[in-house]
Amino acid sequence: MSTTSKAENTGGWALAVLLGVLAAGAATRAVAAVTATTGPADGATLVKTYCGACHLPDRQGTLARIGDERKTPEGWVMTIFRMQNLHGLQLPATARDTIVRYLADTRGLAPSEAAPARFALERRPNVPDLALPGDLQRMCARCHSAARIALERRDAADWLKNANWHLAEFPTIEYQEGARDRHWWREASTKVPAELGRLFPLHTAAWAAWQRHAPIDLAGRWLVRGDEPGRGTYWGTAEIRRTAADEYRTTYRLRFADGQALDGQSHAIVYTGYEWRGTATLGDRSTHEVFAASPGGRRLSGRWFLDDHAEIGADWDAVRAGRAPRIVLVSPRAIRAGTSTRVTIVGEHLGGRVDLGAGLRARVVHRGRTSLVLQVDAAAHAAPGYRTVRVGGANAADAVAVYDRVDRLDVTPAYAIARLGGGKIDPVAAQFAVDAIEEIPGPASKPQAVHLGALPVAWSIGPFDAQAAHDRDVDFAGRIDSRGRFLPAGAGPNPKRPFHADNTGNLEVIATLPPGAAGRPTAVVGKAHLVVTVQRWNTPPIY
Ligand code: HEC
Ligand code: HEC
Repeated sequence: MSTTSKAENTGGWALAVLLGVLAAGAATRAVAAVTATTGPADGATLVKTYCGACHLPDRQGTLARIGDERKTPEGWVMTIFRMQNLHGLQLPATARDTIVRYLADTRGLAPSEAAPARFALERRPNVPDLALPGDLQRMCARCHSAARIALERRDAADWLKNANWHLAEFPTIEYQEGARDRHWWREASTKVPAELGRLFPLHTAAWAAWQRHAPIDLAGRWLVRGDEPGRGTYWGTAEIRRTAADEYRTTYRLRFADGQALDGQSHAIVYTGYEWRGTATLGDRSTHEVFAASPGGRRLSGRWFLDDHAEIGADWDAVRAGRAPRIVLVSPRAIRAGTSTRVTIVGEHLGGRVDLGAGLRARVVHRGRTSLVLQVDAAAHAAPGYRTVRVGGANAADAVAVYDRVDRLDVTPAYAIARLGGGKIDPVAAQFAVDAIEEIPGPASKPQAVHLGALPVAWSIGPFDAQAAHDRDVDFAGRIDSRGRFLPAGAGPNPKRPFHADNTGNLEVIATLPPGAAGRPTAVVGKAHLVVTVQRWNTPPIY
């Protein structure tokens, strides 16, 4: 039944896409693509106008249910989408955007409340979900993530109403797998709301404090560093201009370590005083930005991802430019003993003496405003391990590592899911990356792992087990490209497979570093597990 409900939902969501109303990816877009500038008063009026028809005022003067909950901008988008899709609410897009903004600002989450589940907002693929305590995980996090729940705040009475709605909308919820082995409804209507009300209550000290917090102005010059799995490290600057109360336009000057430019522009709205949601163009790609400003407004971090493929994206970390000398990044982060390497130190006010530590000799090739390019000679006998990098008054501990061989390749994610594409449904790719490791004797002669980051490896796939080998999954499920991205095949019954099976697969992803690059007589191999499964029918803003 859960599958049926989801399939039915898909129909609705697909229709919504056609009508340009609001849907899956479009819902996220809606969070970012607001143009109207309206103050809280307008939001409050619009809520009364559009929501007041069904939601009556309660004793506190707020509207029933609406005043009993707090959630993220994405959470509000999802609830309002349900009001439209299921309950027939007619709501113009501009009014919806203003309402989402108003609700996220007045009934949002404090930064510390959203922190543990940011991965879901950032739509990071293949991240293990939060684990809810006790029986909650089995009761509540089998259809959707626990993160979806942890990103809302309500008291027990409202959590109970949410359980009632679940039962009404998905009546078989009680006797599906994972529910029929217990008195599901008895638990869902007693223990669960009480426990959720304790774990995720409406009124918290964190939210009260955040509401008193002075507004943050993010305008200014920022230093940016990030990492795109499969593509590498990038860095540069962001000029952020404030265009309205909580709206910004940004110009990016970024480049990857290999020199390729990643320039671009974004338009962002900051919800709840810190939740940055942007729509950007980076190089030739259309992206979304889900960042959080630190409470002091000096750091902006999160993830950006492709408009139409949230699984492809990059970490983002920006710090406000200041007056003090500072190192924000050293690239590459590993230098092989006995070689001469071009190294870039990214930071500001990088004047003065350069010191990369024992066994490394640096010559300055170029001093820029936010970078310092060096030619670094690593002595053949330089001891493997981390080094502190010092430039004038700035220093960064463990910012660079010297290595003489690679002992291990960790492939991340260690376990991933990719999904077949077909018809109107795009495949969901899986992007892999490696972290090369040299093990050196550490304190108390325990081995210490020195992380060298991504080195150029060859990617391949193999069967995960004997069944996968027998079914020739490798031949049907898709292929992996030279940057470690697995591109799944199309979906549907395949006459070439036994029982006309789908192109699903159970695979091993293999990264190989050749003997020369590994500094040893044999190649070093790292592996991950990849399950290629059926299409993703429904892509809500919070899965
Ligand atoms: C046509 C009637 C109708 C309108 C208009 C309407 N709602 Fe609802 N709303 C409902 C019903 C019915 C429920 C209970 C079932 C559910 O949760 O879907 C509900 C539930 C909710 C809940 C609780 C959801 C939960 O997760 O437990 C919130 C919050 C909410 N509505 C917000 C809004 C907002 C904001 C608006 C205006 C933008 C709005 N509603 C407009 C009918 C409506
Ligand atoms: C049978 C599958 C299923 C189970 C089990 C389930 N949920 Fe849900 N839940 C859903 C679906 C589907 C939605 C999205 C519905 C929509 O918005 O149209 C949802 C939405 C939600 C939302 C977002 C609602 C909003 O509008 O803000 C919350 C919060 C939530 N569930 C909490 C829970 C809790 C708590 C439990 C355990 C009592 C639970 N869920 C168990 C399927 C399930």
